[in-house]
Amino acid sequence: MDKLTLKDIDVRNKRAFVRVDFNVPLDDSGKITDDTRIRAALPTIDYLREQSAKVILASHLGRPKGGYEARYSLAPAAQRLSELLGAEVPLLSDCIGPHVEAAVAAMRPGEVVMLENLRFHAAEEKNSPDFAGALASLADVYVNDAFGAAHRAHASVSGVPTLIQPAAAGFLMSKELDFLGGALQSPRRPFIAILGGAKISDKIKVIETLLTRADSLVIGGGMANTFLKARGVDIGKSLYEPTQVELAAELLDLAERSKVAVHLPVDAVVALDINAEEGEIVSLDAIPQDAAIVDIGPATSDLFAAVIAAARLVVWNGPMGVFENPVFAVGTFGVAEALAASPAITIVGGGDSAAAVEQCGLASRMTHISTGGGASLEFLEGKVLPGVAALTDKRGKSE
Ligand code: 3PG
Repeated sequence: MDKLTLKDIDVRNKRAFVRVDFNVPLDDSGKITDDTRIRAALPTIDYLREQSAKVILASHLGRPKGGYEARYSLAPAAQRLSELLGAEVPLLSDCIGPHVEAAVAAMRPGEVVMLENLRFHAAEEKNSPDFAGALASLADVYVNDAFGAAHRAHASVSGVPTLIQPAAAGFLMSKELDFLGGALQSPRRPFIAILGGAKISDKIKVIETLLTRADSLVIGGGMANTFLKARGVDIGKSLYEPTQVELAAELLDLAERSKVAVHLPVDAVVALDINAEEGEIVSLDAIPQDAAIVDIGPATSDLFAAVIAAARLVVWNGPMGVFENPVFAVGTFGVAEALAASPAITIVGGGDSAAAVEQCGLASRMTHISTGGGASLEFLEGKVLPGVAALTDKRGKSE
């Protein structure tokens, strides 16, 4: 990586502004349902504490409208982090202002505080220079460990690192960039990319990039329906994107010209309703007019597993069906199992596929599970993420 990382900078006794992504899922009672993102930031926080730095954590949570909303307070995250560290992490009542400055001035080496949700100020998403300046005034060094938010050109991601130098990648950020960057730049081959999820329109650029890098693409989930439609399959009432059928056909042509094999479903599980208690396995030429595809079928699972078994690198993003309904999670879990059984490097993009791998208890069998949903997708599109671009270049200047 050509950016400074935490070990490259002197943090001893310094005030470190650490952008983390503690945008964790909460249930209706405000309880964290998955603390992966908090645990993933621990190596950076532990290291800074060992170095006697004063650790000022900053994050967003949810999408508040630019003012305080109790349900988006970072209080549950501060509490969970306190438990994990075995040390009190006070949550400050705001992220800028005299009260915050006084609290930071009173910090002792090795202490950690958490600023309240950055998005309680509309200036965060607007990347306002004044807001970035107020945040930057709190610290001597900048560390970005928020890979999940690195695609947002917001003040804490993009603005603050232009004001505090050096600006370094935390350990989680470095790990994400190493795995995902390695997959794009120097993939082991065969390199197989598995794409799923509802919409092809969300993933057009990823598909285009992967067609220049991967040896084969495996496509399932709702997005496969649009490809099937493009191939002339009668998909009954299945969801698809009518405006993307032509593009899907063009992508299939491009894949053929690029000699990238594209594996689409060869059978399906169909149901009248996504909340149904059971589905029916059908071949592609027998999809009932009144039913919709809700999962890949067993022949498809076998085909995908065989493709995965022959790979040396697999990147997976997006479920194979409506996996929120356990009855239709079989195909998605089957992909997770095939990845777990494979000797290949296995990289799971964040979001739904990461949740699926957790749900079937196979997370520890993956080489890397990204903490970024949108960020990992944009990275795989080949984009330079604003949060990465803003970090100090190893040669001493930021891009
Ligand atoms: C995520 O959950 O993908 C990140 O935390 C970014 O959140 P956002 O989509 O609300 O910017």
